[in-house]
Amino acid sequence: MSSLTETSEWQALAQHAKHQNLSMRDEFARDPGRASRYSLTLDSIVFDYSKHLVTDETMALLHSLARRLDVAGWRERMFSGDAINLSEERAVYHVALRNRSTRAMSINGRDVMPDVRKVLAHMREFCDDLSSGKWRGATGRRITDIVNIGIGGSDLGPLMVTEALRPYWQPGLKVHFVSNVDGTHLAETIGPLDPDSTLFIVASKTFTTLETLTNALTARQWLVEKLGEAAVADHFVALSTNQGAVQDFGIDGANMFEFWDWVGGRYSLWSAIGLSIAAVIGMDRFEELLAGAQAADEHFCTAPLEANIPVVMALLGFWYRNFLGASSHAILPYDQYLSRFPAYFQQGDMESNGKSVDRDGNPIVDYRTGPIVWGEPGTNGQHAFFQLLHQGTELVPADLLVPLHSHNESGRHHSILLANCLAQGEALMRGKTALEARSELADQGLTNERIESLVPHKVFPGNRPTSTFLFPRLTPSTLGTLIALYEQKIFVQGVLWKINSFDQWGVELGKELAGRILEELEGDKSSPHDSSTAALIEIVRKARK
Ligand code: F6P
Repeated sequence: MSSLTETSEWQALAQHAKHQNLSMRDEFARDPGRASRYSLTLDSIVFDYSKHLVTDETMALLHSLARRLDVAGWRERMFSGDAINLSEERAVYHVALRNRSTRAMSINGRDVMPDVRKVLAHMREFCDDLSSGKWRGATGRRITDIVNIGIGGSDLGPLMVTEALRPYWQPGLKVHFVSNVDGTHLAETIGPLDPDSTLFIVASKTFTTLETLTNALTARQWLVEKLGEAAVADHFVALSTNQGAVQDFGIDGANMFEFWDWVGGRYSLWSAIGLSIAAVIGMDRFEELLAGAQAADEHFCTAPLEANIPVVMALLGFWYRNFLGASSHAILPYDQYLSRFPAYFQQGDMESNGKSVDRDGNPIVDYRTGPIVWGEPGTNGQHAFFQLLHQGTELVPADLLVPLHSHNESGRHHSILLANCLAQGEALMRGKTALEARSELADQGLTNERIESLVPHKVFPGNRPTSTFLFPRLTPSTLGTLIALYEQKIFVQGVLWKINSFDQWGVELGKELAGRILEELEGDKSSPHDSSTAALIEIVRKARK
């Protein structure tokens, strides 16, 4: 047994799970205070976790485990700038990027805040110059289109946030995103653009990522062919931790926005990586996003664990994953502007907690770590995969997120959206019994034989867990809070699973092999492969000769 599963707290949870046999429907009927007891608020965000397969005892046992695993201690270590990313020997300090107070935040005794503020000031200057028209392209035209070239954390965060905050876009400026090395992505994006008024933001923490550099070089070539080599300085900026590589690429140091190795790629939207966000919504709004995230951090650091939203989110996920057999977690935003939120946290969660060795390098043999994270906005999902959520054989805990007010209130749209969101939470929890199904069918005047043949199909088992996040409106600040709550949830789960949530060695092998196969596809080289890969390489080679 591992040091996690042999704890008395884990054992107690395992026993509890064996005997729980809980019906949420009955719990709600028995306990009228359930919704209010199992709801937490942060500013104007309501987090209702009453529709979960938990009782007071379950929560108490989960909290005991959190205490045993020293969640509070690890939180302290993160916020103190300790090198808790052990395999990379780095601090995990993205929280400093959203520290809006005058408080120092130090790594090894050095306050990082002056550097953070300096870059924020640089970003503000750039954004102001863009919106005032002081920054112009090489031919004197104002910039109307920004193309962010990046991948993973250097793409998904800015993409998700700019999409979420579309109502805040300033007039006259659009942002586009290119991530895939598939040439189609770049070609389709820049095809309609005018190089005179286009600015490229090359976003890469390492500035070595093949996809990003390939896209950036092609974009550079496109620009140079139309406007000449001298135009590069007015049309390219870089966001990176790697000054040397940025300069080698030909981007002026003055046009580089720096961040640091203590900012993980999937936690970097708060850093200079957020430049495309700041450019379209303006720096003031970007700072509201940071302030919203800081509010979540304050809550995470100060609320008792029992009333701590990210801790509770983490414990619920842990409960389903390790004791009730759930293999995935759905994020279902009922807000079209949050359409990329699930994809963002697919990386955020799966790259962080998709690990099978613990933080000390020991194989994890007897418990599960990060789930598969997925989702789509409602109500689209309802007409696609909700069938499985309601009647499938998988238990899929889900988050429902919905604003009380839409940025586009027109007619009944938003009431219908809200009704659907709330109805799904209720339907998943309540289900429909055979008795209820039978009586509905009888009301339709069907024969007994027909009723009995239909009943099994019309029954909904219910007892399917959801959390509901209700918030007044999707503003920069609310979005910042929501993102940071999810980030901290991921952190807490990493602590519970005893893993390092901040490295990503699992992406390396594919990169290495792709490099080798590329040489084979482009030249005469060959290296040993299994017979399947070798045959596929041969087919590709022949076809592309
Ligand atoms: O996919 C691996 C990864 O390292 C991610 O963690 C990161 O967000 C992405 O690649 C991009 O890396 P970079 O910003 O260095 O180009």
